[in-house]
Amino acid sequence: MSLPAIHAQGRKQLIAHRGASGSAPEHTIPSYTLAMDQKADFVEPDLGVTKDNVLVCLHDDTLERTTNIADVFPTRASKVELRQPGPHWLASDFTLAEIKQLDAGKWFNPQFAGTRMPTFQEMIDLVKTRPGTGIYPELKSPELYKSRNIDQVKLFVEIVKKNGLEKPDSLKAMPVIIQSFDETAVRRVSKELPTIPRVFLTSNDADVTEARLKALKTFATGIAPEKAVIARHPELVKTAHALGLTVTSWTFRKDEKTSYPSVNDEMAHFLYDLGIDALFTNDPDQFPRR
Ligand code: G3P
Ligand code: CA
Repeated sequence: MSLPAIHAQGRKQLIAHRGASGSAPEHTIPSYTLAMDQKADFVEPDLGVTKDNVLVCLHDDTLERTTNIADVFPTRASKVELRQPGPHWLASDFTLAEIKQLDAGKWFNPQFAGTRMPTFQEMIDLVKTRPGTGIYPELKSPELYKSRNIDQVKLFVEIVKKNGLEKPDSLKAMPVIIQSFDETAVRRVSKELPTIPRVFLTSNDADVTEARLKALKTFATGIAPEKAVIARHPELVKTAHALGLTVTSWTFRKDEKTSYPSVNDEMAHFLYDLGIDALFTNDPDQFPRR
C-alpha cells in the first residue's frame, strides 16, 4: 500500500515510538508486542549495528543506558569521547553473540529481567505475525558507523531485499516507512529502495521553509519535524501537503509535563487541529482515534 494510499484514507497513523516504550523496555519483543496489542499502525525500530555487521534494535549508539553491559563486560569500555561524560560501550564494539548475553529489560523494571535485545530480523519476523501492522525503521547515526567502516545503509538495503519487503505484495501485508535525520541516508534509500516511502527527521526550523520543503520533495515522501518545530510553524503542514509531502511528528508521551490536560489532548490537537498525518507516541493506548 503506497504512502499516498496509506494517508489518502485520511486515517491518522499511530507509530509506536520504540514500541510501547511507556509501559515496557524500549526496543524489546515485549514492547513491540504490546504496541501491536494496542493497535499501533506502525512499530518503530531504531537501528544499530554490531561488530559483526548485524542490525539490532537499539536507540543509543552505546549500550550502557538500556543494558547491563557495565556488569557483563566491565573492562571493555570503548575508547571514545562522547557528549555524555563517563565510560561508554559502543554497540559496534561487540558481536551479536556478546550482545545477546545482555539483559535489556531489568533497567526498565525488574519484571522484564532476562529480556534480550532483538535483531532487526527478529523484529521483522514478529511484526509479520500481525498482517496489516507496519514497521518504521530509523537509520540511526550512519556517519558514526561509517567512521568505523560499517555501511549501515548497505546492510539495511540487503536485509530488506532478502526479506522481499520492498515488493508490492509484501508492502500490502506489512507497510514499511524508512526514516532518518541523515539526509545522505534518505537520498540513498530513495534510489536503492524506490518503492518504500521515506521520511526526513528534523529538529531544525530551517528545514521547514517552503524552499527547503521543495528540495526535500526531490528525495523524500514526507517530513517529520519535532513537535516544537510544528508548534512554532503550524503553516508548514499546509505547505508540505500542497507539495505532496506527508507530515509526521514526535514524540508524544504520557510521562511528559506539557500545557495540555493529557497526552491524548495534545495528540488530538496536532492531528485534528494542525492536520498532521501521523505521530510517534510511547503510549499507543492514549492515541485519539476518530
Ligand atoms: O524517530 C522519531 C523520533 O523517535 C526521533 O527521535 O531520538 O527518539 O529517535 P529519537
Ligand atoms: Ca527514532
